[in-house]
Amino acid sequence: MATASKRVHMGDRTLTLKAVPFFTQLSDRELDVVRSVSVEKSYPRSAVVLTEGEMGDSLYMIQTGKVKVFIGDEDGREIILKILGPGDFFGEMSMIDKQPRSASVTTLEASTFHILSHAAFANCIEQAPRIANFVMRVLAQRVREADRKIGTLALMDVYGRVASTLLELAVYNNGVLMVGEKLSQQDLANMVGASREMVNRILKDLSDRGFITVESKSITIINRELPPTL
Ligand code: CMP
Repeated sequence: MATASKRVHMGDRTLTLKAVPFFTQLSDRELDVVRSVSVEKSYPRSAVVLTEGEMGDSLYMIQTGKVKVFIGDEDGREIILKILGPGDFFGEMSMIDKQPRSASVTTLEASTFHILSHAAFANCIEQAPRIANFVMRVLAQRVREADRKIGTLALMDVYGRVASTLLELAVYNNGVLMVGEKLSQQDLANMVGASREMVNRILKDLSDRGFITVESKSITIINRELPPTL
């Protein structure tokens, strides 16, 4: 009885929270804790959410939308570290160590976040300690991924970097392996540390050789055995 009335009390907000993978791992009580300490905020497409080097102590959980995490230089060149979507979070590093933001984050599409301040997060894990385990697991995965990326950047030529990034981004959609991210060729170039022209040439070559098909909003992988070099 108590549980049922609690669900009614939490209403639509709980239902939307439940749709996100992170939240589906939490019980109703844990969800109630997150709900009570987070602030919901929406951003339009191409909005700056975090800026590298600035101070900040909030963690952002993505409810809907997509963001890119990147580092840049004064000439406007950027390297995209990661694309994040619903169920992912960012901003945890400064929240944990109170150092400036390690990277910038902008929205790739209209997005809604649940934002937790350092104090709110501390409150959250005091009441629902499993949330801390989850954050630690994600941090470990990110280090693994960063290690893989260092290996790719150091050991592969641009051709191999494009091929491995396409495979990393691709997901099965109705049995078809495709990169459905709304990524421009410039974004892809910024992920592999190459020029847009070079990426364009490599995509054309992979397409001419029958490994992929390139459409305006997606790239389909026809043969997973993408060649690591020309
Ligand atoms: P923070 O340093 O607070 O702000 C920028 C955020 O970008 C950072 O926390 C992480 O959440 C995120 N971030 C930084 N580096 C990576 C990475 N290599 N992969 C995924 N996310 C990252």
